[in-house]
Amino acid sequence: MSGGSQQVLSTPLYDLIILGASGFTGKYVVREALKFLNPSPSSPLKSLALAGRNHAKLTEALKWAAHPLPPPPVPLLISDVAEPQSIRHLCTQTKLILNCVGPFRRYGEPVVAACVETGCTYLDICGEPEFMERMEAEYDEKAVESGSLVVSGCGFDSVPAELGLIFNLRQWVGKSVPNWVEAYVSLESNKGMAYNFGTFESAVLGVANAAELVQLRRSRPRRRRPMIPSPAPPKGPLIEHKKDLGIWGVRLPSADSTVVQRTFSTLAKNPQGLPALSQTSQHIQQRNEFWSSVKPAHFGVKICSKSYLQIRRFIIVGILIGMFAKTSFGRWLLLTFPSIFSLGLFKKGGPSEHDVQNASFKMWFVGRGFELIDDNENKGIVVEEGGYNKEIVTRVMGPEPGYVTTSIILIQCAFIVLTQREALPKGGVLTPGIVFGPTDLQQRLQENGISFDVISKNLKFQK
Ligand SMILES: NC(=O)c1ccc[n+]([C@@H]2O[C@H](COP(=O)([O-])OP(=O)(O)OC[C@H]3O[C@@H](n4cnc5c(N)ncnc54)[C@H](OP(=O)(O)O)[C@@H]3O)[C@@H](O)[C@H]2O)c1
Repeated sequence: MSGGSQQVLSTPLYDLIILGASGFTGKYVVREALKFLNPSPSSPLKSLALAGRNHAKLTEALKWAAHPLPPPPVPLLISDVAEPQSIRHLCTQTKLILNCVGPFRRYGEPVVAACVETGCTYLDICGEPEFMERMEAEYDEKAVESGSLVVSGCGFDSVPAELGLIFNLRQWVGKSVPNWVEAYVSLESNKGMAYNFGTFESAVLGVANAAELVQLRRSRPRRRRPMIPSPAPPKGPLIEHKKDLGIWGVRLPSADSTVVQRTFSTLAKNPQGLPALSQTSQHIQQRNEFWSSVKPAHFGVKICSKSYLQIRRFIIVGILIGMFAKTSFGRWLLLTFPSIFSLGLFKKGGPSEHDVQNASFKMWFVGRGFELIDDNENKGIVVEEGGYNKEIVTRVMGPEPGYVTTSIILIQCAFIVLTQREALPKGGVLTPGIVFGPTDLQQRLQENGISFDVISKNLKFQK
């Protein structure tokens, strides 16, 4: 593809372009998008193009995604992130790029740079904190200027965590205040589904370069912290047995808690959220009402399972990655033999469609905090020995997380950008929670098979 003129078309050719459409996750994103593709004026998606570096692979991905129907006439655009000119050219043909090319620390920056330069909106499915925070450090100001929205983490990382936490926090109404919410993620499948190599590679590179994230954070001004009534509780044992939910859990060093921290830090500076592109009184009121109903809390994530042995497996894989990712020979071993070193959790070629169809996830949010008791005998906050007197448990649940849920989330975020751009912030490198929290994203996810439920609300105080 020739770079040609980089002038942005006033009416873009395509509503959106899926970059990395030939990847394992990319083709699921294409399949989700095709469900809605329709040229009629009421359709959320009237035009679409797929982009990648290999025409034959894109053709195959489109065929796979359309099956059993014949592939629709969707344009295939050749674009390589190693040739920034070809990415800028994509940005002249659309206002929205969905980036599925990972590992993002390796391939993501040219795409962010091109979107920021041209004022295009950028959404991705990244789960790599270092990439997200580096893009924020380097491109936030420029994105605000150019009016480009850059939102990483619009997949299973980190939307269920962000929206699930917000959903839990919004249950703390009246005189109740949350202090700490722990999320317990359970990946469920019939016979232990193995995830695709792409996610394993991203995780290995993340651990290998963990020092860069520490250095980046040290080099940046300290983030503002939200006001939370009490300090976070002590970490507790490595493996937790959560008897009431019938699960075992171990802390998961995922992107979720860092993304949530960034959301709260933005809110600490802007308690009513960020101004919308078009500041109508309705937008202002809606956003103010929304954010004033969210009381911040400490947040942590644990991966969990009904099986104690499975938890031991997660821990061993974490130790193996931690040990081997530090040296180039160790990384070579990990990335050459992913099935062996991940004890079957990841494999090259990814899971079969049958495995994907039979997998699902549950994410419980156990919120603990305080309720002001003001009956005649017990005025003030009465706290039990555990340091809280109220518990609210909520749950987000949905289909297979890595590919199906991720695609549903990314496509629904895209539709919000296409239909409600005026109500979203003008630009910046932002988190999904800040951008999509006050929109109808939760309702859209519910309509597409991802549920949000209140499981219990208990006052622990007893006279
Ligand atoms: N948020 C989440 O929950 C979530 C879920 C799933 C995946 N992910 C992330 O998504 C990323 C992709 O994972 P995956 O399993 O789909 O990996 P994958 O199958 O290896 O796909 C990678 C894609 O990137 C493309 N690509 C690589 N180099 C490129 C270049 N120079 N120019 C243009 N395209 C290039 C590949 O194109 P070719 O086909 O031409 O090789 C392919 O389409 C990973 O970082 C993973 O962690 C996140």
